[in-house]
Amino acid sequence: MSVVAQNRQKEKQEQQKQEEQQPAKNLFTGNLPEQGIAKTPLLDAMQAAAAEDTDFKAGKVWSLVYHKDDEHYGTIKEAHNMFFSTNYLNPMAFKSLKQFETDVVRMSANMLHGDENVVGTMTSGGTESILMAIKTYRDYARKKRPWVRRPNMIVPETVHVAFEKAAKYFDVKIIRAPIGKDFRADLAATRKLINRNTILLVGSAPSYPQGVIDPIAELGKLAQEKKLPLHVDACLGGFMLPFVKELGYPVPDFDFAVPGVTSISADVHKYGYAAKGASVILYRSMDYLRHQFLIVSNWSGGVYASPALLGTRAGSAIAAAWASMQTIGKQGFLEMADKSMQLARDMMDGVNAIDGLQVLGEPDMCVFSYHSTDPEVNIFAVGDQMEARGWSINRQQHPDALHAMVTVNHEQAIPRYLADLKASVAEVKRNPDLAYEGSAAMYGMVSKVPLKGMIEKNVLAMMEQSYAPGAASLSVAVDEGEQDLAMKLGTRFVKLVDWFRNRGR
Ligand SMILES: Cc1ncc(COP(=O)(O)O)c(C=O)c1O
Repeated sequence: MSVVAQNRQKEKQEQQKQEEQQPAKNLFTGNLPEQGIAKTPLLDAMQAAAAEDTDFKAGKVWSLVYHKDDEHYGTIKEAHNMFFSTNYLNPMAFKSLKQFETDVVRMSANMLHGDENVVGTMTSGGTESILMAIKTYRDYARKKRPWVRRPNMIVPETVHVAFEKAAKYFDVKIIRAPIGKDFRADLAATRKLINRNTILLVGSAPSYPQGVIDPIAELGKLAQEKKLPLHVDACLGGFMLPFVKELGYPVPDFDFAVPGVTSISADVHKYGYAAKGASVILYRSMDYLRHQFLIVSNWSGGVYASPALLGTRAGSAIAAAWASMQTIGKQGFLEMADKSMQLARDMMDGVNAIDGLQVLGEPDMCVFSYHSTDPEVNIFAVGDQMEARGWSINRQQHPDALHAMVTVNHEQAIPRYLADLKASVAEVKRNPDLAYEGSAAMYGMVSKVPLKGMIEKNVLAMMEQSYAPGAASLSVAVDEGEQDLAMKLGTRFVKLVDWFRNRGR
């Protein structure tokens, strides 16, 4: 090393030492720092930024993170770190990743009763798996039924919103079939909606909103009769239902055991307890999967072949998914399924025991939602009260409800959750105007005002606000002063609807 270089290195070390000792300064200036920030202040700033993030280890969040325990967390973190710089863009360069992927796909196919012809790929998550399925079936139809100009897919109303995304991205019309009183796909309605442009039927196992499984066996029969493929979205249930069924719970057939099912999406990063960025999309045979692939032979960068949506792909997520499945093993999955089902039962019983609340439908898994049966209790206001007590709560509509996905890590949190829920309901009863404040006002309006265009316009404005230069956070609670006229009218409309409804009691 030259003397100049040695001096420069010394200066840098000196500067870093000084920086390490300085009090933390705001690093979120939007300007690239002139000199790189030393490790300690850098990590401290990041730790501080996370201070208000939801505490998933304490079970404060009922979706988003599926945490088993600290030991498992440590293991998959190590596996993740071991491969954190690898890139699955080129499987020839990282043969290990191909090995992990092939094994995850095979283990998943076996779990879901796939025979030796079942094939698939790993993707970055449920949304990508679903996007890939729709692209695959669109291209499959283009090949097999070239006369279909405006392809459509029939999905149950409760299907995950990723299908809307896929419809928009790949120009496949989405037709939403009504659901029955039990929140499951209505077979007769689905049948009626099929037309000569239909290229795909879809069912969920289970659906996100109410955690119920659509009648997959019947949909399979219908698909076969109409010579259509059937995709089962088991993003939530793929790594749980096989074990719940084996434990003896009344789980209907939902996977490749059902004739007519041609593909399944299943997320390892949900109930497979893997690190984020891991899902599988499986097809009954290569006849379908080949339409997922993209091959470009005349690119000046060389011949390009891509199995799924992404180019560069994090090898770490693939490695951690494999590690998670291997370290849990079948007995581990069975034990976790048993425990989560029991915890969900306890929780649903606890919710039903609170005057004015009721679980919707009969969930097939440890995923459920509950609504208000008391006109004085606005469920979104209850959600706000729960958030004020430190919980991270998901709201939903049609019908208005709060949602929870139970994992083994929630055992510690359930008694407190139920106590807070009871207190929140009492608070909302005492103060019904909470329904028109905070995010309850926004959610209430979205679910009740029948002007989809207006809602979408306002949400778009919110998104633009959140991604405007310098914006750092996203909020759904809009101050009254910032509401546009339509929004204000919407809130008034909701108040009026509630007033009429309550007057009739
Ligand atoms: C049933 C179902 N399908 C698909 C998805 C999308 O998965 P991801 O968020 O991993 O993209 C979800 C997410 O919750 C889901 O519940």
